[in-house]
Amino acid sequence: MARHLSRLFLFIICGFLCISCSNTDPNKDMNQAKPKIEKQPFGKTSDGQAVDLYTLTNTGGVEVKITNYGGTVVSLKVPDRNGHKADVVLGHDNLDGYMTNNPYFGSIIGRYGNRIGKGRFSLNGQEYTLAKNNGENHLHGGIKGFDKVVWEAKEIDDKDGAGLSLNYVSKDGEEGYPGNLSVTVVYTLTDDNELKIDYTAATDKDTVVNLTHHSYFNLAGEGSILDHELMLEAGRFTPVDTGLIPTGELRSVKGTPMDFTQPTAIGARIDDDYEQLVLGKGYDHNWALESGGGKLSLAARVSEPKAGRVMEVYTTEPGIQFYTGNFLDGSITGKGGQVYQRRYGFCLETQHFPDSPNKPDFPSTLLKPGRKYMTTTVYKFSAK
Ligand code: BGC
Repeated sequence: MARHLSRLFLFIICGFLCISCSNTDPNKDMNQAKPKIEKQPFGKTSDGQAVDLYTLTNTGGVEVKITNYGGTVVSLKVPDRNGHKADVVLGHDNLDGYMTNNPYFGSIIGRYGNRIGKGRFSLNGQEYTLAKNNGENHLHGGIKGFDKVVWEAKEIDDKDGAGLSLNYVSKDGEEGYPGNLSVTVVYTLTDDNELKIDYTAATDKDTVVNLTHHSYFNLAGEGSILDHELMLEAGRFTPVDTGLIPTGELRSVKGTPMDFTQPTAIGARIDDDYEQLVLGKGYDHNWALESGGGKLSLAARVSEPKAGRVMEVYTTEPGIQFYTGNFLDGSITGKGGQVYQRRYGFCLETQHFPDSPNKPDFPSTLLKPGRKYMTTTVYKFSAK
């Protein structure tokens, strides 16, 4: 009898466990199957092309929204030390803002990030003339750079995290550059709170390529960035002339306000009477990274003291442009009605050095047919 009773008891317990398993399992599956990337319409360009907005989420509470118009990061929500999320990039609420009033907020930049002096360079004895869109110079790929085109998008959801693969074919002669260039940029949001950007490109003629990403970060989510502390893994920078074209010199940062080898508030020396800061109206320079490029290495660390958000930048590139939003002047009203004043955002654009096609001593930006352009940059977020 007792044996029967204990069997019955076991049977009931098992049955109960099975029911509770079958009750929780569907939920669990639902959570696991929850899409980490979602797509919604983001409007139409002025020439009628429909573009989308993709939302990538991870288990660390980070959410990034990217549109295939310009490969633009539209928002990037990151928790602070108390778990409060803020959008840490400047931008617009809608496509129209990006099309009409956009100093490269969140954009992919190409075919050549930063400046090419006098908008020209020579390759194999032939001179190429590029669009001049920054005084007498060429900036960020020209009049219609990669920030203003519609990219073909493909969603990815694999073991590394949710991703968005963007492809664009830049035609031979576009903005003056030689060669048809097929470009792929893959954004991946990992569960380690990293936004990883893999750039690849291939050409059918010798050309120059220098791709970068142009988010304006503000780790507090609003206000000035001058109290953010910056560390750069760089002991030298490339001084510029009045048109912000590198002179060709590689100068030590020692004893200058360009020295960020130790974490220093961005605003501590920004208005010093140092010729390079006067020319840039603040920081707007390329630093030569210690790594020299080629291997994914730490390039920069920025921390915001009040909320404690930290961003680290890793890259395979040899250089990084640190720009402090000196040209923002309050004339742009962005997301949620925020007025973007001078120095309300900073950029850390990983890159080859500006004007490399005219500077034989700088690391080369030449891409030949049959070779693959491949670089990676990671923006990693944490809080302290
Ligand atoms: C450049 C600045 C330029 C800005 C445009 C930066 O990458 O270094 O000189 O004004 O982009 O938004």
